[in-house]
Amino acid sequence: MNLSVNAARLQQEMDTLAGFTQVEQTGREGERAVTRVVFTNDDMQARAWLRVLYEEAGLQVREDAVGNTFARWVGSDPGLPAVGTGSHTDAIPHAGMYDGTLGVLGGLEAIRTLQRVGVKPRRSIELVMFTSEEPTRFGIGCLGSRLMAGTLDPARADALLGKDDLTLRQARENAGFQGDLAQVKLPVSYYSAWAELHIEQGPLLERDGVQIGIVTHIAAPASYRFTIDGLGGHAGALLMPDRRDALCAASEIILAIERAALGTGVIDTVATVGTVKVHPGAVNSVPSRVDLELDVRDTEPGRRDEVMAHIRSAIAEIEARRGVKVSETEINADAPATSSEAIVESIQKACKDLGLTNRRMVSRAYHDSLFIARVAPVAMIFVPCRDGVSHRPDEFATVEAMRDGVSVLAETLLDLAR
Ligand code: GLV
Ligand code: MN
Ligand code: MN
Repeated sequence: MNLSVNAARLQQEMDTLAGFTQVEQTGREGERAVTRVVFTNDDMQARAWLRVLYEEAGLQVREDAVGNTFARWVGSDPGLPAVGTGSHTDAIPHAGMYDGTLGVLGGLEAIRTLQRVGVKPRRSIELVMFTSEEPTRFGIGCLGSRLMAGTLDPARADALLGKDDLTLRQARENAGFQGDLAQVKLPVSYYSAWAELHIEQGPLLERDGVQIGIVTHIAAPASYRFTIDGLGGHAGALLMPDRRDALCAASEIILAIERAALGTGVIDTVATVGTVKVHPGAVNSVPSRVDLELDVRDTEPGRRDEVMAHIRSAIAEIEARRGVKVSETEINADAPATSSEAIVESIQKACKDLGLTNRRMVSRAYHDSLFIARVAPVAMIFVPCRDGVSHRPDEFATVEAMRDGVSVLAETLLDLAR
């Protein structure tokens, strides 16, 4: 099909969306820092701006109780289950401008591209902007899609305490999203198919000169919170032999986590401690308590569980030796997802039609598609990003790569909506 993606407009809209942030820029060339935490002013302004774009494209817009936003291009047979696409626009602290946003603005451009061709899909095509794919505020990723899939208990979700001490319930209601979270769950067979466009966030496509990645599996993520309780005191007066320093214990735990992940000998195992909170946090006070968050992932959930077993036994040893007490809270331990072969083939067909080189691959990052896969057949379309960098201000994808991804998405959506 002859598709004319308006790549210049897409780039312009990506740049505008990147402006909805307060974060300090690095000043280095080619970097665009973005922090956009769910339900902050930046997030709310971005949502309002997106809504105007959806309405200009003639899409029917609705929002659910957690703020997931649905923009529907109504098909000629509107009673049929729709074809879905979309991603997120929230961004972790000091991130880049492509993660998630390409799936939303690129999804919109795919719809506009099809509208320009003059085709009318049989099934409706629905673009989704998910609330809080990133765990920054409420500690758990994919909030909106978990609730849509029914894999997160609505009462537990509403009680989640954000970093600013507001619960999800308070934060969403302040943002204007009222109603019962139980209603966020999608009805059975809501989507006949789902395809998400995203930057790869890894180096393989660029390195091997491949234009499109077709995701066949999404690795299984898990996260845990550990609290280490020791003994605080005066940094000058508490004698070294008498100490039970929580931060020293935490340091050993972090290194044990790194050893456990490396110990599988498999490149697919990763473990990261990305937040550490020290109490009371004064230079002349021995740390009495430390909270840390662990993110651990693997393509094989069984191997991920073995890594956790190693970590727990290391913690038990550190606890005994250092006289501290460690408590563990599981935040999430999710199963991996497998793409639908039919959608993978549809994407492959689109690539062939458009003359784009492609390869099947695993996603090591998680995405809302991980949860939509619980309630609909899914697959994902990856485009290369520079040096595989993501979650950093120097995250970058070329306008040509974005255009290719949108072209493939447009053809795929049309095929799935037939
Ligand atoms: C998503 O941002 C992830 O951490 O994989
Ligand atoms: Mn991300
Ligand atoms: Mn993302």
